Amino acid sequence: MKTAIYPGSFDPITKGHVNIIERAAAVFDRVIVCVMVNANKCPMFSTRQRVEMIQMATDHLPNVTVDSSEGLLSTYAQQTQPCVIIKGIRSGNDFEAEYQMYWINHGLEGHVDTVFFPCEPGLMHVSSSVVKELGRYGAELSDYLPKSILPVFEQRIADIREGGNRK
Ligand code: PNS
Repeated sequence: MKTAIYPGSFDPITKGHVNIIERAAAVFDRVIVCVMVNANKCPMFSTRQRVEMIQMATDHLPNVTVDSSEGLLSTYAQQTQPCVIIKGIRSGNDFEAEYQMYWINHGLEGHVDTVFFPCEPGLMHVSSSVVKELGRYGAELSDYLPKSILPVFEQRIADIREGGNRK
């Protein structure tokens, strides 16, 4: 069975992420979307909330499951062998960073390979950071977020504005 792991912060999942997941789900037998810790980011949503939003946004894809881990990606991948890691690439900057991560993950445990999916041109401007920034100002987000998570995202960002409900 060909398994792909799609790791990320997903804070929150965007239309760009869903596009990568849909394309990976068409290529691999099984795709595991894994919410992981990015030491350089402080997430707005709890891990549980991020997992729930991914589940809602990928409900139409029967070979996609959602998981979370606080460990190293290479360890997680090692425990899921045989598998590949997948990453979406929006720009040259993304490629530089992900190529470096590829060598780190490849060299750590088990020599897991990475497959890069180029972003659809129409989604290059879509990122979780932009969504959070726009969301804080109550902007229209239907071009950025999967339809299925729009109401829950708006409710959660309103909760956060009113004093933080990150459970
Ligand atoms: O969506 P992001 O924030 O770009 O995803 C980055 C992520 C979570 C995939 C990356 O930070 C990661 O792999 N975290 C797990 C810990 C790890 O393995 N770090 C790499 C070695 S420094």
